[in-house]
Amino acid sequence: MIRRPDAIRGATIVGTGMYVPDRVLTNADFERMVETSDEWIRERTGIVERRIARPDQASSDLALIAAQHALESAGLTAADLDQIIVATTTPDRILPSCACTLQAKIGAVNAAAYDVFAACTGFIYGLGLARGVIGTGIADTVLLVGVEMLSRIVDYTDRNTCVLFGDGAGAAVLRPCGPEDGILAVSIHSDGVLGDLLEVPAGGSLRPASAETVRDRDHFIKMRGRELFKVAVRGMEDSLRQALDRAGLSVGDLDLVIPHQANQRIIDATRERLGVPADKVILNIARFGNTSSASIPISLDEVQRQGRLKPGDHVGFVAFGGGATWGATVTRWTMPAPRRSQPVAAPGAEAEPQAAAPSPVRGTGS
Ligand SMILES: CC(C)(COP(=O)(O)OP(=O)(O)OC[C@H]1O[C@@H](n2cnc3c(N)ncnc32)[C@H](O)[C@@H]1OP(=O)(O)O)[C@@H](O)C(=O)NCCC(=O)NCCS
Repeated sequence: MIRRPDAIRGATIVGTGMYVPDRVLTNADFERMVETSDEWIRERTGIVERRIARPDQASSDLALIAAQHALESAGLTAADLDQIIVATTTPDRILPSCACTLQAKIGAVNAAAYDVFAACTGFIYGLGLARGVIGTGIADTVLLVGVEMLSRIVDYTDRNTCVLFGDGAGAAVLRPCGPEDGILAVSIHSDGVLGDLLEVPAGGSLRPASAETVRDRDHFIKMRGRELFKVAVRGMEDSLRQALDRAGLSVGDLDLVIPHQANQRIIDATRERLGVPADKVILNIARFGNTSSASIPISLDEVQRQGRLKPGDHVGFVAFGGGATWGATVTRWTMPAPRRSQPVAAPGAEAEPQAAAPSPVRGTGS
């Protein structure tokens, strides 16, 4: 017999998790690596430090820990998963997908698994996908992970980019809910004409790896920061307004906004244009830098564990990233707050001792 859902179902987040590596790279470390200063980095970006993975870790290792925490908080096991969606720009390998590697590591024997390449907007795109497959009955239980190891594609001789990025993973488990709850609206966009504002020029089918591409440092991120800044603010404002409109809500209905942590000034400018009070906007860029697709689920897990969300709250997620891609979702929160809130790490709180001599973090074996 053909099985069809009776109606489009809602999809809601029932578990959250995060993981960031222990190793901390501070602004002071960068002062010894490139011509920059702690003052410049703080003023222009809001970043104080970022986490850097160990050489023996890959994206799927970070994703695994975040995913295990999310499953635990949902009270589910890996065998319950129907789909695994991994949003990443830094998969372990181009083939197989990071999601398939994670599927094997976590033991999700019943799950389909695939990656979403939408750069910093990846988690928002993934929420749209998860809502679609749950809403139409294709899947009941979806694990969505945003994970990045940007330290592997950052040029630590380029001061324009190296100070911005960090490594980390955040995860959410989604399940069906009533149509009035969970993800109420999704607004996602792209403009490939803006592709070269943020790119890794080589390593794909256009320019496969060669001695020349390695020599020219073309496997690293290249960015036109000033131009990105302007389009990011406009895209984030527009997409959040559109998602609110689709949900039949207005800016004043939002209890919390979790923006992609690209740059504190981008977040502040977006917040001001939207007219959202500062205390409703989550900021943790000081501690983690820009972790691309991981930044929203990392922030989400922190606020959930702090007890800052309660059922019925309206939460806006909004992001902009390479591609260009941008988008927003509006969610009516359904997870209960934890019985006791859990503290989050202050800058430097979990820092491992730093090596006396500054060195690029990649390939040092430390
Ligand atoms: C990158 C960014 C922080 C730079 O800030 P900015 O105020 O736009 O600075 P500019 O690009 O105008 O550069 C100003 C000067 O600072 C210099 N500079 C750049 N990086 C520097 C650093 N780490 N330390 C010191 N000086 C730096 C530039 O070389 C430039 O010098 P010049 O005037 O002599 O040419 C900012 O543009 C930004 O955040 N853009 C968005 C990036 C982003 O979010 N990317 C991810 C998208 S999701």
